Amino acid sequence: MNDINAISVKNVEKIYGGGKQAVTALKDIHLEIRDREFFTLLGPSGCGKTTLLRLIAGFEQPNQGEILLFGDHLEGLEPYQRPVNTVFQSYSLFPHMTIAENISFGLKMQGKMQKEISSTVAEMLELVKMAEYGERMPNQLSGGQQQRIALARALAPRPKVLLLDEPLSALDLKLRQAMRHELKRLQRDTGITFVFVTHDQEEAMSMSDRIAVMSQGSIQQLDAPETIYERPCNEFVANFIGDVNLIDASVSEFQPGKLVCQWAGSQVVAANTATTADLSSENRVRLAVRPEKLRLVTKDQGQTNAQVTESMYMGTDRYITVTCDHGENLEVRVQNSDVSGEVIQEGDTVGVFIPELSAVALTDQQSGLS
Ligand SMILES: Nc1ncnc2c1ncn2[C@@H]1O[C@H](COP(=O)(O)OP(=O)(O)OP(=O)(O)O)[C@@H](O)[C@H]1O
Ligand SMILES: [Mg+2]
Repeated sequence: MNDINAISVKNVEKIYGGGKQAVTALKDIHLEIRDREFFTLLGPSGCGKTTLLRLIAGFEQPNQGEILLFGDHLEGLEPYQRPVNTVFQSYSLFPHMTIAENISFGLKMQGKMQKEISSTVAEMLELVKMAEYGERMPNQLSGGQQQRIALARALAPRPKVLLLDEPLSALDLKLRQAMRHELKRLQRDTGITFVFVTHDQEEAMSMSDRIAVMSQGSIQQLDAPETIYERPCNEFVANFIGDVNLIDASVSEFQPGKLVCQWAGSQVVAANTATTADLSSENRVRLAVRPEKLRLVTKDQGQTNAQVTESMYMGTDRYITVTCDHGENLEVRVQNSDVSGEVIQEGDTVGVFIPELSAVALTDQQSGLS
């Protein structure tokens, strides 16, 4: 692996328009994308993902800050002069050219010789598993096939960085899932740094080495997928990635990395990323706990008792809603692998148990409460 980062984004701000119409699309963005990394920008519509890609590609200029590619400054470099290529949401193949001509396009622009162009086209068709399709026209291919050709066309000039802006969103679910494997394989095989944009958390989790979760022009958390899911740094991230129960509790003891909390008159030991300085004077925290981490146990064996108000069969799992004795509703997920035949039913009284370190404590500041 190269020591120099593929992309360094330093202190970048982007404002569209001016005066009353000004829109701050990105504010104070810092990030380093490593060479050969599969890096994902994840966030809801309008949070600034495409804007950040367009700045890296050179279609837009930042109002403040700078972007370096492999340590080099990019100011003044036109998009085509950058070692970067982009794949957009719609396949955007040239409709009047054959598949082979589509893939050749960038290579011709680079002034490559015909012999080299032909062998690269063959190699790219092989790479996306479409060796037989070179002579077809784009409208003779399915959506998924067109998107694979769009990828082949973008990879052919061997960019150092490939930017992918929601490239799978026009495909149906099955194809999208198949393409995840394909993309991951392509990235591994080519060693090209991928910067992938999506608002689909499953897509992000399944492919990425690291994910930057964005909201309203800022990066909320930048970590490996596991860390983002297991240790969200605030309520936005906890809510955006997967399902979560948010429980109000108070802190009774602060230990490095963990907090002993009081909830429903019992003790919960939660993971903690905050410092004592982040705690409010009332020592309030909000516990974020995933539905699959909660345990339903025999009555009186958990931190509190609860009534099962809904029990929904979902195939691999059962989605259960319980109402705790003190009124709080919680979502619980139970895997359907129990062969004892015992099924939790609506109306059952159960104990709710939050195992040690299965909840993450978020302070008022992290929860956005203060
Ligand atoms: N050319 C433009 N002029 C003015 N405002 C713009 C322009 N392009 C984007 N914006 C605004 O900047 C913000 C970020 O837009 P951006 O397209 O980067 O979001 P996004 O995260 O890619 O969203 P989506 O998931 O919907 O594609 C939005 O508020 C958007 O309305
Ligand atoms: Mg976008």
